[in-house]
Amino acid sequence: MKKHLLILLSVLLVMPLGVAIAGGDAPEAEHQRWHFDGHFGTFDRAAQQRGLKVYREVCAACHGLKRIAFRNLEALGYDEGQVKAIAGEYTVEDGPDDEGDMFERPARPSDRFPSPFANENQAKSANNGALPPDLSLIIKARHHGPDYVYGLLTGYEEAPEGTTLLEGQHWNKYMPGHIIAMAPPVSDDQVTYEDETPQTVEQYSKDVVEFLAWASEPELEERKSTGIKVLIFLLAFAGIMYAIKKKIWASVH
Ligand code: HEC
Repeated sequence: MKKHLLILLSVLLVMPLGVAIAGGDAPEAEHQRWHFDGHFGTFDRAAQQRGLKVYREVCAACHGLKRIAFRNLEALGYDEGQVKAIAGEYTVEDGPDDEGDMFERPARPSDRFPSPFANENQAKSANNGALPPDLSLIIKARHHGPDYVYGLLTGYEEAPEGTTLLEGQHWNKYMPGHIIAMAPPVSDDQVTYEDETPQTVEQYSKDVVEFLAWASEPELEERKSTGIKVLIFLLAFAGIMYAIKKKIWASVH
């Protein structure tokens, strides 16, 4: 009996250690204030539109967004014409035509964002053997996704002494294991904003996270507002039940 307990105890003690090693001792990214946080959180449309611009001008060179169709962008406040114009800037493969050949045509609102590479092998060979993941679900796929992705984009540092980086490797504070094959993707003033919003790495990172958070969970606002309505309903219902109970039991003393 004692032996079993000992084994159980040592497993419990060793497990978190294993997790820590697998996690590569990267610290948790600092919590940022997100517009979509909390019970009443909503998306910030202006930030999302800027984030889309950052995605299109920077991240899209390496990362796909295959779950998002151009017409979904209407949720960011674009009208039909604007969505059509955005789609029209992309080329997608279609077909086969009557002769059995595949052909290229401008994208339509019903098309999804085309991936930058034809297949995974091409993506890897263009990136020193590392695969740039599709970003459609990245915010959901990572622990504390918004903070993590923001941390990652702003977390590049000189490698500490004693760490040797191979060609194409970079040191990042928040990447598990610290070594990442993605070069710092954005720098200050790289993307032009049409308003007075600062053109800094921090702002770009915040905006692209706001956009990617929507891509990962387009129904977030609806989910939150339904939650609030259910709560209000339950409260009102509890009140009514209490009143009924009082009335029914009023004569019994
Ligand atoms: C030049 C190509 C390139 C560009 C541009 C690029 N990335 Fe990456 N990204 C990569 C590669 C390659 C990896 C895989 C890194 C690895 O596994 O070490 C990656 C990985 C990632 C990851 C996953 C990290 C993890 O936890 O595994 C995220 C998130 C990410 N990129 C976000 C972005 C965002 C946001 C942008 C635009 C601001 C961007 N990337 C621009 C090449 C790129």
